[in-house]
Amino acid sequence: MSLEMALLVAHAPSMCHEENVPVFQQSLVAGLKKMRDRIVEAGTEVVVIISTHFAAPFHHCVDVTPHHKGILTAFEALDLISDVPYEYPGDEELGKQLAAAGKRIGVPVLEVNDTTYVWDYGTVVPLRYLVPNEDIAVVSLSVCLSAPLEETYRWGTAIGQTLREGGKKTVFVSSGALSHNLVRGRENMPSRSEQAMDSQFIGYLKNGQYADAREMLNQYSRIAGVESGGRHLAALLGVVEPTQKAEVWGQGQSSASWNAIISFAS
Ligand SMILES: [Fe+2]
Repeated sequence: MSLEMALLVAHAPSMCHEENVPVFQQSLVAGLKKMRDRIVEAGTEVVVIISTHFAAPFHHCVDVTPHHKGILTAFEALDLISDVPYEYPGDEELGKQLAAAGKRIGVPVLEVNDTTYVWDYGTVVPLRYLVPNEDIAVVSLSVCLSAPLEETYRWGTAIGQTLREGGKKTVFVSSGALSHNLVRGRENMPSRSEQAMDSQFIGYLKNGQYADAREMLNQYSRIAGVESGGRHLAALLGVVEPTQKAEVWGQGQSSASWNAIISFAS
């Protein structure tokens, strides 16, 4: 198998610089560091990461750029993420394979090969922990805001199949929050109703009830304001197969959103 693991990860802006991480997000950072070790132990050659902040209106973008280099200042969090450099190898070949797989199943995929494109913070922040040495290739994927969850799920299945059938050791990463009706005050928890839904959704994942999680996502994503309408979770559920068991490595709030680090591995 060449898909070694899938991950759900968090990217709260206060996590960008480790010295700024508040106490209630420390378990998220600890979880990311555990996953960093897993990525290395698996001999991972490529990380494929979909981010809720790479939000394309009409296309499922695949960043096939052979070399990613930029300096990120995030318009969503100018106080926390400014002048952050990154540089990772890309994988044009795998990116093109993913794009072709999407086109085969009829989803609108856009290949991006553009050295002027600067990554979003949903991509950069988790990679600073998962691949801190910037020595593993990365293919960056967008969510598509005009795509229903069902289309995004089908795109996820095409991604998963491509990674499993490929010759490279890969890890798929879904970067985004669970409930996400934001309020001011980073320490605030989601409402009790949102906490109940987050807990039920994570419970389905922990029990391997992925079909139930997928069914729940349709309403949960709207009621709890799940980030990007739950598209990053739909893609993740498309990638994951029943043989991959979920383990939770960290959870925490950020401005009334809920965030988790969850691995899916055989
Ligand atoms: Fe976010």
